[in-house]
Amino acid sequence: MTDAVQTQSPQADAPNAGFTPRVFSGIQPTNHLQLGNYLGAVKRFVEMQDSGIETLYCIVDLHAITVWQDPADLSRATRELAAGYIASGLDPAKSMLFNQARVPEHTQLAWLFNCVARMGWLNRMTQFKDKAGKNRENASVGLFAYPNLMAADILLYHTTHVPVGEDQKQHIELARDIAIKFNNDFGVDFFPVPEPVIEGAATRVMSLRDGSKKMSKSDPSDMSRINLTDDADTIAKKFRKAKTDPEPLPDTADGLTDRPEARNLVNIYAALSDSTVDAVMGEYGGKAFSEFKPKLADLAVATLGPISAEMDRLMQDPAEIDRILEDGASRARAIAAPILKRSYDIMGILI
Ligand code: TYM
Repeated sequence: MTDAVQTQSPQADAPNAGFTPRVFSGIQPTNHLQLGNYLGAVKRFVEMQDSGIETLYCIVDLHAITVWQDPADLSRATRELAAGYIASGLDPAKSMLFNQARVPEHTQLAWLFNCVARMGWLNRMTQFKDKAGKNRENASVGLFAYPNLMAADILLYHTTHVPVGEDQKQHIELARDIAIKFNNDFGVDFFPVPEPVIEGAATRVMSLRDGSKKMSKSDPSDMSRINLTDDADTIAKKFRKAKTDPEPLPDTADGLTDRPEARNLVNIYAALSDSTVDAVMGEYGGKAFSEFKPKLADLAVATLGPISAEMDRLMQDPAEIDRILEDGASRARAIAAPILKRSYDIMGILI
C-alpha cells in the first residue's frame, strides 16, 4: 500500500467508512502522452496498482470528443494510450484497463448527474473557461458538462481514491459535491465522497518554454513538452533548449522559490529518480544548468526509452490491445451495472 492510500484510507469515523477502498483514474486519448501525464498520473497509477487495492484505469474517449477529434487519430490515440499504460507497468491482470465508451454505464450515470449538478457549479470550472476561451457560445455542450461525466466515471465504481495531477483538483471537488448532494437529495448514504490523491514531486509539471504554464498535450509548441514517444536525441534537445535563468542552481530548495523554470527541472529530476528536491539540491546545488541539463536528459532517456520501445512493440498488435480493453471493460461493467441500477432505484426510475 502506498503512503498516499495509507494516510487517506477510510477510518472507522471517516465519511467513507463502510466503502471498500477503490482507485479510479483516467486520461484523455488526445495527442501523445507527455511527461506531465506520466509523472503526475501514470507513474502514480502503477504505484497504487501494487497497493493491494482494486484499481481501474480508463481511457476517457468520450471526454476527448468534447472538442473535435479526427476519428482516425482518436482510434490511434486510444490504443496508444493503452499501450502507454501497459508499457509503464500497468498490468491488465491486476488493474482493469478499458476505454470509457465500452462501459455505457458512464454516460447513463452522467445523465443522472446532469440533473443533480447545478449550473452555477459548472460555471465556476476554470478548465471550461480556459478551454472555451473567449468564444464560449461556440463551445460544445459536452465541454460544459464534462465534469459531470467525470464525476460519473468516479462514482460509478464507488471510488474512494483518485490519483491525479493538480489541475484536476477542482473537478474532483465537483464530484465530491455531486456525491454529497445526491445523498442529501434522496436521504441515502449511497455514494462515497472520493479523495483526490495529489502527491509527489511532479503534481504540476510545467512547460519547458514557460515556467508559468503547465506542460500539456495540446500546447502548440512541441518544444514545450517531452512526449513519451520522443527519441533520445529529441529529449536531449528539448532539455538543452528548455528555458532557464542565468544563475547556477541554488544550494537549497528554498532558493527555487522565485525561479519557476529551475524549480520545474529540479522537480522533474526528483520525480524521475524517485528522490526528493532536497536530495537533488544536495547533488546539484551550485552547479550550472549546462552541467545539470545533460544529466536530466540522460535520466529521462533511461526512464522513458524502454517505455517508448515497449509501446512501439505493443502497437504492432492492435487486436491484442482491443482484447485487453474489452476484457477490462467487462470486468468494470460487473462493478458498474449494479451501482447504476441502484442509482435508478433510489431516484424512482423503473428499469
Ligand atoms: P488529462 O487527460 O488532461 O490528464 C491526465 C492526467 O495527467 C495529469 N496531468 C499532469 N500532471 C502533472 N503535470 C502536468 N503538466 C500534467 N498534465 C496532465 C492530469 O492531472 C491527469 O491526472 N479530466 C481528466 C480525465 C478524467 C479523469 C476522470 C481523471 C476523466 N475522468 C476521472 C480522474 C478521474 C483530464 O482531462 O486529464
